[in-house]
Amino acid sequence: MSALICGSFAFDTIMVFQDKFKNHILPDKVHILNVAFHVPEMRREFGGCAANIAFNLKLLGGDPLPMGTVGKDFAPYASWMEQHGIPLDHVKVIEDAYTAQAFITTDQDDNQITAFHPGAMDFAHQVKVGDASGVTLGIVSPDGRQGMIEHAAQFVEAGIPFMFDPGQAMPLFDGDDFRRFIDQATWVCVNDYESQVLQDRTGWALKDIASHVEALIVTLGGEGSRIYTNGTCIEIPGARVNAVNDPTGCGDAYRGGLLYGLMNGLDWETTGRIAALMGAIKVERHGTQNHAFTLDTFRQRYRDSFGAELTAL
Ligand SMILES: Nc1ncnc2c1ncn2[C@@H]1O[C@H](COP(=O)(O)OP(=O)(O)OP(=O)(O)O)[C@@H](O)[C@H]1O
Ligand SMILES: [Mg+2]
Repeated sequence: MSALICGSFAFDTIMVFQDKFKNHILPDKVHILNVAFHVPEMRREFGGCAANIAFNLKLLGGDPLPMGTVGKDFAPYASWMEQHGIPLDHVKVIEDAYTAQAFITTDQDDNQITAFHPGAMDFAHQVKVGDASGVTLGIVSPDGRQGMIEHAAQFVEAGIPFMFDPGQAMPLFDGDDFRRFIDQATWVCVNDYESQVLQDRTGWALKDIASHVEALIVTLGGEGSRIYTNGTCIEIPGARVNAVNDPTGCGDAYRGGLLYGLMNGLDWETTGRIAALMGAIKVERHGTQNHAFTLDTFRQRYRDSFGAELTAL
């Protein structure tokens, strides 16, 4: 049985400018801005929320089934997914579009200038939850607006419990949209900032949101996470990290852990700790799909971080 992971696939192109933007952007000339940054250092990473979450769930030995739309340039990404044993049956190629992609230029002050091209992601509504079989639970993660709305409704119609994960798609929705998603979802997972936006837009406090779902999970970066369930709040500590190199994708790694726990009927304390360790392992590596581990090392790190045995993996 699989977890149906609806969301984006994207290429992330990261370029490092060996200088400071402020030396090249002149405040009195911004009305005729025309700058070219020479960027000898460049990486191209596989990203996108659905793919990242699927990658992480697979690392744990779970059974992810990603669903989304990609473009004519998807071939190298498809082979990467296939190498990792992730099925692409519900990933549809939109022939006249590019796969979603972000072009990120960073400078030596850690400032970033990003251009995001949604491309095929905006056709996400062309794939349907009802087309997948053998699905026990799902997640609606950041994707095209129409796709997210339709996938949530399709999960409800199919009687499949799902997690609502608005992430960077938060600006696409208003209070009515969010209240509807929360009513439809069985679980909601957001980071600290997103939890604030969600409260502002819905007019619901955390405890009100939590009362509409089985669990509301709020991640707090290096500070750990909180799981609001059954009228209580379970504090999940952060796991030990060897180095903090790149926080991007920790949220997706954490969600991969959550889905693993839910698929296997684990309690929230264990599920949250597996998720936290996934985030910690991810933060040590650049990119969102460059980390790896054996299940033995995972159990060892779980023991080192939380002083308990992980027998469920
Ligand atoms: N520096 C860190 N040390 C230990 N654990 C971390 C660290 N950063 C992240 N994590 C783990 O990963 C989880 C998710 O991270 P975070 O709250 O930063 O997600 P996010 O803001 O959605 O990230 P992104 O959207 O960039 O992927 C945290 O709750 C924590 O368990
Ligand atoms: Mg996030």
